[in-house]
Amino acid sequence: MTPQVLAHTHAAAFTQSRPWTVAEFADLLNNRFTHVIGKAESFALFTVIADEAELLTIATHPDYQRKGLGLCRMQDWQAKAKSLGATRAFLDVAEDNHPAIALYERCGYVPCGRRKGYYPREKTGKIDAIVMVRDPI
Ligand SMILES: CC(C)(COP(=O)(O)OP(=O)(O)OC[C@H]1O[C@@H](n2cnc3c(N)ncnc32)[C@H](O)[C@@H]1OP(=O)(O)O)[C@@H](O)C(=O)NCCC(=O)NCCS
Repeated sequence: MTPQVLAHTHAAAFTQSRPWTVAEFADLLNNRFTHVIGKAESFALFTVIADEAELLTIATHPDYQRKGLGLCRMQDWQAKAKSLGATRAFLDVAEDNHPAIALYERCGYVPCGRRKGYYPREKTGKIDAIVMVRDPI
């Protein structure tokens, strides 16, 4: 998975927020704590530091959504994080991102915090991020 492929899928999937650039993905992939799993159709990017895993982003290209790929990527990255020593997993999600929240709830994540005004939105102004945890992963 190259930074170009990641940026392409990310830009196609994220219609509500600023897409991450090729340079941003390249930087993330250069970080020894960052891992990527999946293919161009659907991928997950995450970090594992000591016993804590964090999902940085997950995206399924719109042409492939609602076919079970996102669920598979969640299972894949969690299994990889566990094999690397993680015992719990965190993520954050915009409070208006109902598809992602449904996916995370289905994967056993529960809310554990809120970041006020974390995500910019053109039409509605800033909205909160919900922080979610799965413990044990
Ligand atoms: C969230 C996302 C990754 C889901 O990927 P996907 O491959 O379509 O997900 P799946 O087909 O595996 O769906 C698994 C479950 O998630 C939930 N879900 C997924 N998309 C949904 C939607 N549009 N509306 C409601 N629930 C949804 C459902 O419970 C679904 O199971 P079901 O199809 O049996 O009802 C995808 O919608 C996406 O890339 N969105 C844009 C990027 C994004 O918001 N990423 C998360 C940022 S925090």
